[in-house]
Amino acid sequence: MTTTSLLNRRILITAGPTREAIDPVRYISNHSSGKMGYALAQEFLNRGAFVVLVSGPVCLQLQHEQLTVVQVQSANDMYMACCHYFETIDMAVFAAAVADYRPAEAAQQKIKKNDDSFIIKMVKNVDIAFKFGQIKQPHQISVGFALETNDEEKHAISKLKKKNFDMVVLNSMNDSQAGFGYDTNKITIIQSDRSTAEFPLKSKQEVAKDIADAAVKLMIARKEASVVIH
Ligand code: PMT
Repeated sequence: MTTTSLLNRRILITAGPTREAIDPVRYISNHSSGKMGYALAQEFLNRGAFVVLVSGPVCLQLQHEQLTVVQVQSANDMYMACCHYFETIDMAVFAAAVADYRPAEAAQQKIKKNDDSFIIKMVKNVDIAFKFGQIKQPHQISVGFALETNDEEKHAISKLKKKNFDMVVLNSMNDSQAGFGYDTNKITIIQSDRSTAEFPLKSKQEVAKDIADAAVKLMIARKEASVVIH
């Protein structure tokens, strides 16, 4: 693939965790470092794309003249930020680890530790990738991630179908040095026709290249198909 194969394409990437407030000093979150999403942003920029990076709270920084970074905290913030770009993008890559649930109500004041136990009622967050899958146009590509602990391929395919992904990147918590936090990852890319490509453990920068290559192939195939149809 050429390094300019995504010249001027508009790509939305979600990265990092979300934080769901319990009270003004506490939140529910997860271990995502944002490294995978930021590596993807860098790779797409290297290939000439305009990138919007909607990022949860992470300790990473990226600067580029074709990059817009939108910093968010909660899943709802991430959704609102993404909605702003859904119509105009060529591709969305959902690398963020979005909290599936949030406390039904965030307390206005710090909760005091009076009782021996404490129950938090949780409500479902909006599924950002699912929402995009419902409205995406034929020329738009949706790339999802699946982080699994068991029955990995089965769950990844189920997400591919449910969220209308064009391809899903499976990473497993069972592979050492892969997934959350590490500088490396081990992925399997599953296409909507169920063809799969397994990759060895690599740096997240190298993994981002493999994902970008697969995404470019999809874009080319989509373009050729639309030429045949017209
Ligand atoms: O950030 P790092 O430390 O580098 O780690 C990278 C990673 C492990 C976070 C990344 O590679 C990854 O797997 N991201 C997705 C993790 C995840 O939450 O997967 P999921 O199976 O819960 O979600 C499936 C897909 O739907 C994902 O593309 C997710 O971004 C998206 N989703 C999920 C829930 C939600 N409310 N909105 C979403 O968009």
